[in-house]
Amino acid sequence: MSNADRVAIVTGAARGLGAAIAKRLAAAGHPVVLADVLDRVEETAAAIVAQGHAARAIRLDVADEAAIAALPQVLGDWWDRLGVVVNNAGISPKVDGRKRMVEEIPLEEWQRVLAVNLTGPFLLSRQAIPVLKARGWGRIVMMTSQAAHVPSTITGAYYGTSKAGLMGFARNLAAELGPFGITVNSVAPGRIMSDMVAGAAPGMNEAFLQRIPLGRLGEPEEVAEVVHFLASDAAAYLTGTTIDVGGGSYMP
Ligand SMILES: NC(=O)c1ccc[n+]([C@@H]2O[C@H](COP(=O)([O-])OP(=O)(O)OC[C@H]3O[C@@H](n4cnc5c(N)ncnc54)[C@H](O)[C@@H]3O)[C@@H](O)[C@H]2O)c1
Repeated sequence: MSNADRVAIVTGAARGLGAAIAKRLAAAGHPVVLADVLDRVEETAAAIVAQGHAARAIRLDVADEAAIAALPQVLGDWWDRLGVVVNNAGISPKVDGRKRMVEEIPLEEWQRVLAVNLTGPFLLSRQAIPVLKARGWGRIVMMTSQAAHVPSTITGAYYGTSKAGLMGFARNLAAELGPFGITVNSVAPGRIMSDMVAGAAPGMNEAFLQRIPLGRLGEPEEVAEVVHFLASDAAAYLTGTTIDVGGGSYMP
């Protein structure tokens, strides 16, 4: 099966890491579905098409069960040729660029973070399993975070909690799907330059730099390269694992 016959769906693909991942997978020959809540996803997909690759955009809230259930109908034969699922969409609410302490977190905000960062990947993976099983090949990648391993001064407790949950989900799913030729892995970025990171309060990214042995923030393309590897045949014997992409800021 060539990559042209392995459609990839990337959530949160309008900008940042998701856009870079969509571009990388498209360059590797995968037809790519870019899914996002932002209108801008149309432009991001159009730029990939303009480079001669196959891509399409859909407006999708990953936490919306009905919208996920409608994907086979919305995407038609693209869905039937699904091979790669990248659960990248995520949110990290801040107030003036700073995290809320636990005693300040409204229940609604806690629930929304878990809905987008954890339940979203569950919904999309669940929807994708039958088609991946039928094809006898599949790659599911979860975008987790260094905040899943260690507490963060930058992101709220709900963020690290959701990402730790996502890593646990990935391991459980990897165990269930291994017998069907489907691998499930996590990528845990450290601090990568994106709109999410640019929104941090002044001085925060500079302070974090001191914890990065490689001495700089990462680029979205550097995360995309790792996702591309996990989606490839070269990563056939990797499942249930996490690859940390943080310039050495976290070493297990
Ligand atoms: N940038 C980093 O340093 C970093 C570090 C660790 C983990 N991550 C994770 O990487 C992923 C991408 O982060 P980023 O830095 O590119 O952030 P970003 O905010 O720049 O991009 C996230 C994208 O997800 C989309 N999105 C948000 N909620 C959505 C929903 N409900 N349904 C569909 N799309 C939705 C947004 O519209 C946006 O386009 C996130 O899961 C984030 O938690 C990022």
